[in-house]
Amino acid sequence: MSVPSVGWREVVGADEEDRHRRQAEGFVAMQARKSEKFGNGRALHRKQVAALRATLTVPGDLPEYARQGLFRVPDKYDVWVRLSNGGFNRAADAVPDIRGFSLKVLGVSGPSALGGEAVSQDFALINHEKFSSPTSEDFSKVVTTAGQTPGRLLLSVVKEPRLIPRLKAVATALKEPFSGFATQDFFSAAPISYGPYAVRVRLRALAGYPNPGAVDWAADVYDRLATDPLDYDVQVQFFADEQRTPIEDASVTWDAPYETVARLTVGRQKPDEAFAEEVDAAVFDPWNAKAEHRPLGEVMRARKVAYFASQQQRNAT
Ligand code: HEM
Repeated sequence: MSVPSVGWREVVGADEEDRHRRQAEGFVAMQARKSEKFGNGRALHRKQVAALRATLTVPGDLPEYARQGLFRVPDKYDVWVRLSNGGFNRAADAVPDIRGFSLKVLGVSGPSALGGEAVSQDFALINHEKFSSPTSEDFSKVVTTAGQTPGRLLLSVVKEPRLIPRLKAVATALKEPFSGFATQDFFSAAPISYGPYAVRVRLRALAGYPNPGAVDWAADVYDRLATDPLDYDVQVQFFADEQRTPIEDASVTWDAPYETVARLTVGRQKPDEAFAEEVDAAVFDPWNAKAEHRPLGEVMRARKVAYFASQQQRNAT
């Protein structure tokens, strides 16, 4: 491929700061209520399915433009993986849900997207290529209201009919079949910078044999890991132009090819309860990033505030 465009730009709304603070307050209030019921935990992606140790290998043969940030030089990194169900409740795996695949790449150094020194490069990915809302506002409204009672959600939809398409988008996403964490692809759904470029990220599952009969996603993963590692290609698609690859609208699938920039290998392993507790208490946050991989767009800017508030409330380590 030819050298990607550097012609991307963020457009920051004047009212964003207040709005994001309000949204974060909504998530924290919901989190406090749910934590009374389920024990200390995250506002969303509360149920951890598995905690895994993995390795990220950056190859030596990337094209010049793809050698940026974490992918600048060939190297191997230890990675923590947190697999999760997306909901605010601790529901059974059979309940339709968004699934999360979070990575914490350890042993990273250099300036951080948050200022100071980066200690890890995190990715928080979901099994959908696009987000259910163009911006964070409708998503936050739908989720924090649904987190109260279904009746409340109905009431807010009657008051604000613009939420109806958002609910439909969520319903459609939930209907998509999920074949398991070993065989499904996962996506950033929102962009990050990649040196001077902008990209979205995909984790491409390389394992065959989907297990459609699985009702316990952890068992599906650990059954496989008893005998074989699980491999994934880490891929990026580069910003081309605002029509095909919008920065500020997370509800659009990017129309750009994916290129492989690293390999994630989850080695053979068994469940480890102490490690699982450590991972559940840890932070996985797209803003825990090298400055070269700063999250971009309104949805990402909202996440900066909401994740930090959630981490504070649950005393994350
Ligand atoms: C592209 C959009 C998004 C993706 C891909 C995404 C994905 C994820 C994932 C994978 C996690 C679990 C992280 C972990 O394992 O620790 C998570 C947690 C969370 N998400 Fe999102 N999310 C998105 C947008 C949002 C937005 C817009 C908000 C709110 C404004 C939000 C609020 C939260 C909160 C509060 C948590 C819990 C954070 C914590 O306590 O660590 N998310 N998200």
